Amino acid sequence: MAESGGTVIIFDTTLRDGEQAARVNLNTGEKVQVARQLERLKVDVIEAGFPASSPGDFDAVRAVAQEVRHPVIAGLARTKERDIVSAGEALSGAAKARIHVFIATSPIHMEYKLKMTNAEVLKEVESAVRLARGIVSDVEFSAEDASRSDIDFLVDVFTLAIERGATTLNIPDTVGYAMPMEFGEFCGTIINRVNRPGVIWSVHCHNDLGLSVANSLSAVRAGARQVECTINGLGERAGNASMEEIVMSLRTRSDHFGADTGIDTSKFYSTSKLVSNLTGVLVQPNKAIVGVNAFAHEAGIHQHGMLCNRATYEIMTPESVGAPGTDLHLGKHSGRHAFNERVENLGYHITKEQSEKAFDYFKELCDKKKEVSDGDIEAFLTDRIIDVVPDRNYELKDFAVTVASGGKPTASITLTHLGQDITEASVGNGPVDAAYKAIRRILSFDPELLEFHIRATSELADAVGEAHVILRYKEIKAQGRGASTDIIEATIRAYVEAVNRLYYSAAAREVSI
Ligand code: KIV
Ligand code: ZN
Repeated sequence: MAESGGTVIIFDTTLRDGEQAARVNLNTGEKVQVARQLERLKVDVIEAGFPASSPGDFDAVRAVAQEVRHPVIAGLARTKERDIVSAGEALSGAAKARIHVFIATSPIHMEYKLKMTNAEVLKEVESAVRLARGIVSDVEFSAEDASRSDIDFLVDVFTLAIERGATTLNIPDTVGYAMPMEFGEFCGTIINRVNRPGVIWSVHCHNDLGLSVANSLSAVRAGARQVECTINGLGERAGNASMEEIVMSLRTRSDHFGADTGIDTSKFYSTSKLVSNLTGVLVQPNKAIVGVNAFAHEAGIHQHGMLCNRATYEIMTPESVGAPGTDLHLGKHSGRHAFNERVENLGYHITKEQSEKAFDYFKELCDKKKEVSDGDIEAFLTDRIIDVVPDRNYELKDFAVTVASGGKPTASITLTHLGQDITEASVGNGPVDAAYKAIRRILSFDPELLEFHIRATSELADAVGEAHVILRYKEIKAQGRGASTDIIEATIRAYVEAVNRLYYSAAAREVSI
């Protein structure tokens, strides 16, 4: 019988499934930032990446495993020997390591993707789980596309995985196909038929029909005691189940679920902003729990009700998820202590040396604008402090951009490359186009611009402008961010940063540029 009550384990896969999403590209330093904040949020398991998928992923899993000590650190692996060995190596420095092995079990995946029979898949499960268990004592097994798999076959697959040593069994709704009631019943049936008390049943739901949170919660009602989820619901296609929505549902309706998590929910808002800033994926204003409008009451009747008693229109307090009542600005009289405290509250983890540099930049900014908002601080932290690649091929030295009504914008850019200043100029359809064309003339290669957006860090006219760029060259993608009170400078800095990251990733993968 499925257990009821107790604690639900929160397995965060922002750095693996979330990072796998289109237009998301984090480097190792950024992944460690996110992992540190996930640790403060008190997640139980961090899936840090898929080590065999690329050298970058391997490095990131290794770095997270070495630096983040409290949660379990998981690495994903197919049933292939080289994947499992690579995950084991990347996790070797972890205080608590988990190898997460998966193989697809649905007829469509087995026939067209794996080209394997049921018997062959069972053989893979057997040898892969046994191998993983020989490396670590904590092994999770996932049956990819479980919700479209034959239930009798799934029962055999999970039973075998448990017999070979898996301690967590994951039932993914890989393509977001399930319906909440149906998925709850499906999970409950598997749990009852496999009937192994002591193992943990987990779910991993995608959001293709917008039902990932509902499906995950339905599975919790049926006995699942681990939920795989991501911050802001980031993930493949329409994303994964959003952690903040799952956790706040369990907390707010503990009467319904009789189960809770160990998450420090007051860190949700800062974690959401950190992930959004580092990935460049914006959070929709009406997003539950962490959207800027999540606690804004606009209608007169609502405001009146709120003044009488907040519970009339609020089922959770903004404080419980760390949403700021008002954005308290810092200014030139703010000291180092107040600044450092704000940086920490915003979810950033910086070294003493980085903090000195950040404070100097903050003071510089105070000379340019009267008040420095949280958004301004976040923008320059990500651009100038934690976003820096160690080996820089190009540095922005100077730029001049002219825009006049009736004429074509022109840009002249000087970059320093290997100690030499190189200047090029170009006209363009707009100032950014002109600047990017001039930069491309300086470069010895021609990267493709995959993504470009600019935003202001607050509603004020003197807000810092933040630009986000993703470039691709050959199979390598790299993002760059730039922040400045001058929006054109921000866009140029973002491009140059992305170029430097392209070089860095290319060198790590031995790809020539
Ligand atoms: O969506 C999925 O099935 C996955 C598995 C690897 C767990 O991401
Ligand atoms: Zn997934």
